[in-house]
Amino acid sequence: MTSTALAEFVATCRELAKTQDAVLTIRDAMEQLVADPTKLDDEFPLTGTDSDVTLHEDEHISIITCETMPGINQPPHDHLLQVVIGIIDGAEVHRFFHRGPDGIEAAGGRTIAAGDVLSMQPEAIHAIAAQGPETCRAVHVYLGSLSSVDRSLFHPETFVEEPMTLERYAEFGRPAPARV
Ligand SMILES: [Fe+2]
Repeated sequence: MTSTALAEFVATCRELAKTQDAVLTIRDAMEQLVADPTKLDDEFPLTGTDSDVTLHEDEHISIITCETMPGINQPPHDHLLQVVIGIIDGAEVHRFFHRGPDGIEAAGGRTIAAGDVLSMQPEAIHAIAAQGPETCRAVHVYLGSLSSVDRSLFHPETFVEEPMTLERYAEFGRPAPARV
């Protein structure tokens, strides 16, 4: 893998997104991408802040680099698109939710660490946090135009649903309890 690993990944995913088995083949491409994280340092440097950078977005696919700082539990939200996430370094703690008769309910969780790949169905609702004191770098791929979807955000304590906006997403972040 060269220093253009991310650019090559984007080009590959753009082609794969138009095919029938897009999720499976993009998962494979993601596993290769995150297998050697040090090669991505030039293209995806740490900024020291929570930041999402959209590398590419069209009607078929959105590819975003995500830097998640420690210490914040981000709020539950959906995407309404297939998702493939790969972790470059650090770890993402995912809390999952499903829709019940009275709104969303907690439905378990999973932590994915460097080298891991997670895919989620369009109806999935999750909330993420960086695990422990480490910043997490990840690549998130969505099978569609993420900015065109009318997504939902959920209040972190009441779980009341509202339209997703970046401002409210930031407002709904809560300090994460210290982990030993
Ligand atoms: Fe998400």
